[in-house]
Amino acid sequence: MDYSPKLVYFICFSLLFCSFFNPCLSELCHPQDKKALLQIKEGFNNPHVFSTWDPTTDCCLHWDGAHCDEKTHRIVTLEIYFGGGDLSGPIPPEIGDLPYLDVLWWHKQPNLTGPIPRSITRLQRLRFLVITWANLSGPIPDFLAELKNLDTIEFSFNNLTGPIPSSLSTLPKLRGLSLDRNKLTGPIPDSFGEFQGFDFYLALSHNQLSGKIPALLGKKDFTYVDLSRNRLEGDASVLFGSDKNMTQQVILSRNLFEFDLSKVDFPKSLIVLDLNHNKITGSIPVGLTAVNNLQHLNVSYNRLCGKIPVGGALQGFDFTTYFHNRCLCGAPLVKSC
Ligand SMILES: *[C@@H]1O[C@H](CO)[C@@H](O)[C@H](O)[C@H]1NC(C)=O
Ligand SMILES: *[C@@H]1O[C@H](CO)[C@@H](O)[C@H](O)[C@H]1NC(C)=O
Ligand SMILES: *[C@@H]1O[C@H](CO)[C@@H](O)[C@H](O)[C@H]1NC(C)=O
Ligand SMILES: *[C@@H]1O[C@H](CO)[C@@H](O)[C@H](O)[C@H]1NC(C)=O
Ligand SMILES: *[C@@H]1O[C@H](CO)[C@@H](O)[C@H](O)[C@H]1NC(C)=O
Repeated sequence: MDYSPKLVYFICFSLLFCSFFNPCLSELCHPQDKKALLQIKEGFNNPHVFSTWDPTTDCCLHWDGAHCDEKTHRIVTLEIYFGGGDLSGPIPPEIGDLPYLDVLWWHKQPNLTGPIPRSITRLQRLRFLVITWANLSGPIPDFLAELKNLDTIEFSFNNLTGPIPSSLSTLPKLRGLSLDRNKLTGPIPDSFGEFQGFDFYLALSHNQLSGKIPALLGKKDFTYVDLSRNRLEGDASVLFGSDKNMTQQVILSRNLFEFDLSKVDFPKSLIVLDLNHNKITGSIPVGLTAVNNLQHLNVSYNRLCGKIPVGGALQGFDFTTYFHNRCLCGAPLVKSC
């Protein structure tokens, strides 16, 4: 940066001025943002992570985990990435008093408890809502659908319960939804085939979701979809189809899926396919040998039969990819056909 003598003079003068007359009028921090941040700090009972949030300093310059926009000087980011943070208790409602907030990203806060507050709907510019490895409880609220600018919602590793609101599919810009490792129940909403966002990832694993995969989900070409470790049943073949060209990772292990794999047409873009521990029948289709980028495959613990097709990546996986099926045979299994 290039500091002109005038600027240096101004800064020196400001510092001198500020040290005598507090609060300093020349600070960048917007007074409403400062007030909200201090209320949030107090609401959390003055945790150590916010020890730099000192009312006598400029929140745009010195406050760890809070960042201002360079032009507007409004708070746009609140973030704690490192583990062992000490946020405790529920999220204070004053979180809604940061109207320019773009990113709320709090990670590894085991003592952060309570529900997702309604006041969050006032954050109309919010794009990234990420509160992971914490202990948020209560439902995934329907009102999140009021935050029309959301790009990413992640609540992985929390204590959230109840059904997944179908309204989330109305978020026009959403590109990623991770609700994995909670205690969510009920079905995957029908509307989830209607997400508009391109290059979409959906992580719902490690919950208690039940019911069938809605047929409408087949309309969406998910880049990444992880539904593993739930109680989902029935046909999952709608997630595939050679017309899809975005689908890279499909992880459906440890559910109750029951469908005929022989009839599935796999997208050529597939890289990871994990179907282990289901009740899938039929045989492995020859089409899978044409999926050139397949790097991980696991169809173990199902009810598959017949010869493992020869070609592509299929003989490159070890026997555990295929073991514990009804009557699969051929390399890499020792059982010949
Ligand atoms: C969480 O709370 C418990 C009990 O009050 C405390 O022992 C622990 O240190 C807290 N964890 C963190 C990361 O602050
Ligand atoms: C949630 O709280 C429980 C009990 O205090 C703790 O064992 C667990 O690690 C916490 N979860 C996370 C993801 O931090
Ligand atoms: C998790 O949620 C249940 C209620 O669903 C509650 O009883 C429990 O205390 C919560 N655990 C933590 C660590 O907040
Ligand atoms: C996928 O297919 C669509 C049309 O079906 C096409 O517009 C798009 O460019 C394709 N994308 C890739 C990555 O091939
Ligand atoms: C496939 O899944 C089974 C069951 O979880 C596991 O034992 C095996 O190691 C896995 N194999 C591969 C290659 O991922």
